[in-house]
Amino acid sequence: MHRTRRQPPLRILSVSAEVAPYSKTGGLGDVASALPKALHQPDDETYPIQVTTLTPLYRCVREVLHKRKEEVRDTGVRISADLGDRVYQGKIYQLVQPYGPRLLFVHCPALYDRDGIYDDPEAKRQHGDNPIRFMFLCHAAMQLGQHLPEGVPDILHTHDWQTALLPLLKKFYNHPAWSHTKTVYTIHNLAYQGVFSPDWLPILRLPMWLMQMDMLEYFGAMNCMKAGIRFADAVTTVSPSYAKEIQATKFGEGLDTFISAWAPETRGILNGIDTSEWNPEEDRQIERTYSVKKFDGKFINRKALAHRFGLQAGPGDPIFGIVSRFAHQKGLDIVADLIPELITTGSRIVILGSGDPALEARFEELGKRFPKHVGVKVGFDAKLAHQIEAGADAFVMPSRYEPCGLNQMYSMRYGTIPIVHRVGGLRDTVTDTMETTARHGLATGFRFDVCDGDGLRWGLSRAVKTYRQDPRLWHQLRVTGMQQDFSWNRSAGEYLALYLQLLGRE
Ligand code: ADP
Ligand code: GLC
Repeated sequence: MHRTRRQPPLRILSVSAEVAPYSKTGGLGDVASALPKALHQPDDETYPIQVTTLTPLYRCVREVLHKRKEEVRDTGVRISADLGDRVYQGKIYQLVQPYGPRLLFVHCPALYDRDGIYDDPEAKRQHGDNPIRFMFLCHAAMQLGQHLPEGVPDILHTHDWQTALLPLLKKFYNHPAWSHTKTVYTIHNLAYQGVFSPDWLPILRLPMWLMQMDMLEYFGAMNCMKAGIRFADAVTTVSPSYAKEIQATKFGEGLDTFISAWAPETRGILNGIDTSEWNPEEDRQIERTYSVKKFDGKFINRKALAHRFGLQAGPGDPIFGIVSRFAHQKGLDIVADLIPELITTGSRIVILGSGDPALEARFEELGKRFPKHVGVKVGFDAKLAHQIEAGADAFVMPSRYEPCGLNQMYSMRYGTIPIVHRVGGLRDTVTDTMETTARHGLATGFRFDVCDGDGLRWGLSRAVKTYRQDPRLWHQLRVTGMQQDFSWNRSAGEYLALYLQLLGRE
């Protein structure tokens, strides 16, 4: 009998500033947590894969560990990096868990033991030392690599601006032990590039000649993201549409020509979702679990959500949900403008989010003005996010741009119809309801083409009309959405193919 030969184990080190549920401000945390889980298969007969993730041990990580009754143990690995006017020392801790990819935290209280993950613009005390904090994380990855039991990683996977200096560091470091290693850099959001004064270069012990246009220089400043794009062996982003969009002026955030020049092959690999965390059949954070076959539970969640926010919502009054960072990207100012008009259609809306203080105040004011129609919670609340996905009838995402977006996929999995701007990953995941897509059972939501009040009004009005006048079609949309495969298996396979291609192991 023919047996496939056992391949040498593939060793992957993923380095991220956020890893959910320990540290998360947005989708990066979700992805950095779920992708390693999907890839890790150390005991596979033909393709053993060992994944390790490295992230800082922020104060919030300790709090989550405590809440989850989890522990970390000291691995004995020590990190030291000469940055600024001192030598920073760190220790590597490992999450104690029976199975799953290895999760390591770099402990350096001087850099990470403080409130928040990044400097909070609202906080009284600004540290302003993010370049050092994340450069230290990059050094930790380089030093850790040589202490991993299975040997130096084959793939070093880095994410967003915070770890974008790592591919450059690996090149400069040029250690023979790392010579086989390939670097992959994933752009989760091109708008956050890590732009700092060039005065940081000597502090980070980087040479001034990096201040050239085809290196890190960016309008007289240094740009961390440029290092990832320029020095990684492969660049990816989180949806096929966004991969194209960032190579044109509109969404290129000033780096479109740089990307086209240095990483024209940038691949768009759609994010998956963690289907164990987001599963209406087993979700302990919601009022009642449900499935396509036993859908009644959805209505109990709807009632609970309405009750929690004191909304009066009869069965004919659709409840729209929003869970989001309040950032310009998300287009929520357009929603705020439209709310007084939206509620005249009998609609209700529940909003959870935080960020831009002006928008926080605006939504709170709308909540007070229309208490029976508008429910608002300002803050970050993972449990409530699940309850909104389960309880709302539809979910609104008018993002001006959206590299991938996860909430529209969570929504579909929870039988909650997404209403989205046709852009980036929203375009790649939501199938618009048209005569043909509906007839063939393909439609999953409502898309609108122009991201302004008129566009959103058009999207919302189509949803309200279908909800009220065509309950059969509405239910079909729910079922089709719930049956989509948004699991990481598909996308993890694409990352794996890329890793193997880079290593010449196809
Ligand atoms: P982004 O990363 O741009 O913020 P994504 O849609 O990729 O957008 O991911 C956002 C993630 O953060 C989702 O898991 C969402 O549920 C979560 N999230 C955003 N804001 C909040 C909040 N206020 N409370 C709880 N979860 C939130
Ligand atoms: C970013 C993007 C979001 C994406 C997430 C995870 O924060 O804004 O669209 O889903 O990263 O990749």
